[in-house]
Amino acid sequence: MYYHLKAESVLIEGKARGAIYDFSSGRVYSINRGAVELLKACESSALEEIMDVNSVDGKRYLSFLDKLTTKGLGAIYNELPAGKRTCPIQPYQPTLEYIWLELTSTCNNRCLHCYSASSPHTAAGCMPHTRWLELITEARLAGAYGIQLIGGEPLLYPRWRELIIKAREENYELVEIFTNATLVDDDCIDFFKQHSVSIATTIYADNSAVHDRVTQHPGSFDKTMSAIQKILAKGLPLRIASIIMKANEQEAENIVKLLTDLGVEPVPPDVIRPTGRGDNLELLPQAYSKPAIKPPFFTDPETFGKAQHFHSCLAGRLAITSTGDVIPCIFARDQVCGNILNTSLAAILAGQPLTTCWQTTKDCISKCQDCEYRFACADCRPLAQGQDPKKSWQAAPADCSYNPYTGNWEDR
Ligand SMILES: C[S@@+](CC[C@H](N)C(=O)[O-])C[C@H]1O[C@@H](n2cnc3c(N)ncnc32)[C@H](O)[C@@H]1O
Ligand code: SF4
Ligand code: SF4
Repeated sequence: MYYHLKAESVLIEGKARGAIYDFSSGRVYSINRGAVELLKACESSALEEIMDVNSVDGKRYLSFLDKLTTKGLGAIYNELPAGKRTCPIQPYQPTLEYIWLELTSTCNNRCLHCYSASSPHTAAGCMPHTRWLELITEARLAGAYGIQLIGGEPLLYPRWRELIIKAREENYELVEIFTNATLVDDDCIDFFKQHSVSIATTIYADNSAVHDRVTQHPGSFDKTMSAIQKILAKGLPLRIASIIMKANEQEAENIVKLLTDLGVEPVPPDVIRPTGRGDNLELLPQAYSKPAIKPPFFTDPETFGKAQHFHSCLAGRLAITSTGDVIPCIFARDQVCGNILNTSLAAILAGQPLTTCWQTTKDCISKCQDCEYRFACADCRPLAQGQDPKKSWQAAPADCSYNPYTGNWEDR
């Protein structure tokens, strides 16, 4: 008699424990070291060779295997299954999916936390307009289907409309503009509607006192809220982001309520990334944080296949700054993978720096590389890096208390 996990279940070892990833239910089951060793022994030997099935221990092992069978994770076989199991894991082919274009570093706000250190006095950048236009075509040819115009404040880039028209000509599926919305007028809204542009904006509170303290721009809350009302009245797709720092951490619930009242999807506020002007301990919230990393973890063949060789969030995306630097994400300011003013996008996509960034799997991350949840657990690299005292790109996320060397969650 042989015992085998089903083709839809995969055993992943950690240093102290293991996990069974079940693609049928999407669940990830934690198992102890003894169970890991038993399942590994079962891969090549009959149950009778591994244990005395009539002994007390043998009955305990069989009862454990019975439980796995009941959950649909494995089964008893009369002989060793021949050949390789056909597992449903889908290999991920890295191609460009999404690009951010930071049109300008100038902004009419001067937010306390701004990762691009934008302000009315920050230099706009040096990308020729023709290069932005070319890039929109190059990125589409390379496979990108989503594009976001961002900044700084993208509406301060004088020819932003031409870039939207170009993106539409190139048939991007998603064209989004990320704006503080203080400059959005009726004319802009008509243009967005005419060209099917999605809009993203940001609020930091449900009142002007706190919002304007974050933006350092008196009157900005009223302007942003007025634009939000007009955009919603015209039925345009709008998402509203919010970032929490010390100055507005009492506002998290008020923001969610405001979004609900507006009829906009109430996404939980995100936290500041310690980068750019945000790299300042004084700005960090005292109590508010992203939900800690902890079970239950979930899996599916696609995300598992991607996580084995690529970072779940970074792979497939890149941002281009107003000076032409290519970075893997708007928050990852120091991971420069080339400059688009002297290199083609195709060469940057094929180059080692970007490939290495995209391939930042959990196997590259200290602690995580020894954890059995590493192919089910997602993280934000720039957040982990920013929270690390040494600012290491390979730092483990600060918001995980799991110790894969003992198998214990240390905050429990
Ligand atoms: C840089 S802004 C550019 C678009 C536009 N000016 C705006 O503020 O909506 C894009 C988003 O990044 C957020 N952001 C800026 N600095 C950040 C940081 N250090 N950590 C997390 N989010 C940040 C802003 O709050 C905003 O939601
Ligand atoms: S977060 Fe946006 S609005 Fe604030 S300073 Fe930066 S670019 Fe400007
Ligand atoms: S953050 Fe790292 S150590 Fe924590 S659960 Fe995820 S993979 Fe494991």
